[in-house]
Amino acid sequence: MSNKAFYLTKLEEMEAREAPMPVMGPDDVIIRIQSVGVCGSDLHYYSKGAIGNFIVKFPFILGHEAAGIVTETGKNVKTLKPGDRVCMEPGIPCMKCEECLTGHYNLCKDVKFWATPPYDGVLCEYVSHPAAFTFKIPDNMSFTEGALVEPLAIGLHACNTGGVKLGQTVAIVGAGCIGLVTLLAARAYGATQIIVGDVLDKRLDKARELGAIPVNTRETDLAQKVMELTGGRGADVCIDCAGFTPTVDSCLSAARPAGMVVIVGMGEDRVNGFNTSIMSTKELTVKSIFRYRNLYPTAINAIADGRIDVGSIVSHRFTFGDTINAFATCTKDIRNVVKGVIEY
Ligand SMILES: NC(=O)c1ccc[n+]([C@@H]2O[C@H](COP(=O)([O-])OP(=O)(O)OC[C@H]3O[C@@H](n4cnc5c(N)ncnc54)[C@H](O)[C@@H]3O)[C@@H](O)[C@H]2O)c1
Ligand SMILES: [Zn+2]
Ligand SMILES: [Zn+2]
Repeated sequence: MSNKAFYLTKLEEMEAREAPMPVMGPDDVIIRIQSVGVCGSDLHYYSKGAIGNFIVKFPFILGHEAAGIVTETGKNVKTLKPGDRVCMEPGIPCMKCEECLTGHYNLCKDVKFWATPPYDGVLCEYVSHPAAFTFKIPDNMSFTEGALVEPLAIGLHACNTGGVKLGQTVAIVGAGCIGLVTLLAARAYGATQIIVGDVLDKRLDKARELGAIPVNTRETDLAQKVMELTGGRGADVCIDCAGFTPTVDSCLSAARPAGMVVIVGMGEDRVNGFNTSIMSTKELTVKSIFRYRNLYPTAINAIADGRIDVGSIVSHRFTFGDTINAFATCTKDIRNVVKGVIEY
């Protein structure tokens, strides 16, 4: 058997090479990958080689949003069998540290997360993964929907953290993959008015298609528009899915008194001019999230049940053999690509 993989060999250059066949422990399974989502972080490593302190050492395999078919199971594995269709949580936490033991395994400092240096991602044919972080998907769910469980879990975590409820107004800034899955999650949790800001028309069109009121923030001030739409009250929950000074600022301004702001975006390491005065005078609660925990079953059930159509955010599909072009297109054609996926 061979294990073809796409390696990032230098900035914006990829090469198909043979990767070693994965080795499986007694609690692991081997999975033949069927679909991988192209994530903003993959594109960042592809063109910049680093995110914060995570620095790529070439050659490096990208890809962490994945689904596939189990081909082998370790001797202790009781929950999965060869042939099962699955999607995988890309992070393997240590399960020994305080964060892991208190249920915040997404904050484990020793987590091994696919495509986060020094750990390779899964743009290859076969991977091994702990059965505990491998989840069965039903037959009515596509592998691409399985791969998109990963970003959807972020949107669900953002809405849970913001306490999004039936009948609420939610404002989301940033309509990339993360903003759009947050919009899908907010709708599923019952928000009845969702306002989404971005500067790219294709993404705003998608937000409209998914039931939100789009606002091009180059032309219209988001907070002002939210006030107009809510009779001067403001949004119950504002979720920043971009992470820049103006986007955080507009979330603070768009929130209602005693409202909630959730920071998901990490566009800049530091946001300058954080408006503590608006935050104080409205007694806002500002929270943040990092990835997700315990949300794969929720996301899978919501997709399988038809409550969340996560596949609707996909704008570009590529074959595995066309991975090099997929990365070039997703990087260069930012105006048109909303979400790319690689289907095997
Ligand atoms: N907290 C977490 O766990 C977590 C997880 C995944 C991604 N992220 C972060 O979330 C952010 C969104 O991820 P993504 O994959 O959707 O990225 P993306 O780059 O595809 O989307 C960001 C969107 O924000 C828009 N934007 C930028 N500046 C803006 C402005 N001033 N006004 C309005 N819109 C603006 C961009 O046009 C873009 O559409 C990124 O910063 C990413 O690093 C955080
Ligand atoms: Zn991702
Ligand atoms: Zn840990």
